[in-house]
Amino acid sequence: MADETADQERRGFLKWLTAGFLALWAPAAGIMTASFLKPPEHGPRVGERMIRAGTLSSLAIGESRFVRHGLEPIFVVRLADQQVMAVSAVCTHMQCILHWNRDNSTFLCPCHDGVFDKTGNVLSGPPKKPLRQYSAEIRSDEIVVFT
Ligand code: FES
Repeated sequence: MADETADQERRGFLKWLTAGFLALWAPAAGIMTASFLKPPEHGPRVGERMIRAGTLSSLAIGESRFVRHGLEPIFVVRLADQQVMAVSAVCTHMQCILHWNRDNSTFLCPCHDGVFDKTGNVLSGPPKKPLRQYSAEIRSDEIVVFT
């Protein structure tokens, strides 16, 4: 009789221990599974490359930075306090490398005087297509561009 009571107490304790373990384990497993399945907010997609384009604090609002990158260099433009954008530095007319005109925040093409605004839209000249845009974001103080 005493053995049966001891067995029941042992079983009860083991049930309580198992339930406690599952109560702790299940939420942790759920959180880990959810974080694994959640897509990253933004990061390189398949075939996409990430380029570090310097610090935000070293780029004044309204200024641009030329970033060398393979065959297609990029301009990063700081539009506002926490807003940047990245456009190709290659003219869409005949692939000349553009220059930044800080006086009126435009991109100038030295080859045939094509002019693009700071977001890459054609303002004048022979180019018919806007500059290619790239996704850009700020991580802490670093500007990151995805190509
Ligand atoms: S190559 Fe830029 S305007 Fe012709």
